[in-house]
Amino acid sequence: MDLKGKTAVVTGSSSGIGLELCGLLTDKGASVYGFSRRLTTMNSPGFTWIQTDVTKQEEIDRAFDRVLREHECVDILVNNAGFGLFGAIEALEPEDWSRLMATNLTAAFLCTRRVIPGMKAARRGTIVNVASIAGKRGFKSGSAYCATKFGLNGFSEALAEELREEGIRVCSINPGSTDTEFFDRAGIEPKKLMNKKDVASLILAMIELPDDMLPDQIVVRPL
Ligand SMILES: NC(=O)c1ccc[n+]([C@@H]2O[C@H](COP(=O)([O-])OP(=O)(O)OC[C@H]3O[C@@H](n4cnc5c(N)ncnc54)[C@H](OP(=O)(O)O)[C@@H]3O)[C@@H](O)[C@H]2O)c1
Repeated sequence: MDLKGKTAVVTGSSSGIGLELCGLLTDKGASVYGFSRRLTTMNSPGFTWIQTDVTKQEEIDRAFDRVLREHECVDILVNNAGFGLFGAIEALEPEDWSRLMATNLTAAFLCTRRVIPGMKAARRGTIVNVASIAGKRGFKSGSAYCATKFGLNGFSEALAEELREEGIRVCSINPGSTDTEFFDRAGIEPKKLMNKKDVASLILAMIELPDDMLPDQIVVRPL
């Protein structure tokens, strides 16, 4: 896909993989909208930040109302916003579970449903869900986080089948540990880390594949 003149939305734009990806997409000539709670700092005329808490449907709807006022449709949606919370099951509070589900899974559904009508009308579009290796295999202390990312992969896989006949590509990327702010908050320390820009570049490569190629699910981890 040639990104020049295309419209992209990236959730979780204020740091890490999302921030890097916003930079890469604007460099390619796309009009990029970043959604996050904290300010997303990017000096590019092609970039617009819309303050959005993706756990709040009204904020997501307000953000998409603006994007769709300014552009006929969204060509690319990257559901990237997310955080990690790890711990023994008895230490996880129901509110933690709900916040994790709302951010890592429900937000992807709420954002996706706003872009589908335009993508169907245009008979094209690409949706990339940023899941995790934790969405492919379970690990100790990761019950809630893994549940959100397994869920995101299930959502992605089912939607890919539903929408491929419409010319819309839905795929997911499952990164292993990546050097971002994620681990400052997650309370765990991985031994090896990938570079966030390299992971963002892989997402860009998935998006840039020819329109008739569906990358499906990519798993990538530190060597
Ligand atoms: N780092 C890793 O090792 C790794 C591995 C596999 C998958 N992932 C996934 O990669 C994605 C990006 O994470 P990252 O590693 O780049 O970490 P990060 O630097 O902490 O970035 C997370 C982004 O998500 C946003 N976000 C979180 N809650 C939000 C909310 N309620 N509303 C709007 N935005 C929200 C944050 O923005 P605000 O705080 O400003 O709202 C931030 O921009 C996540 O889905 C994560 O699960 C990360």
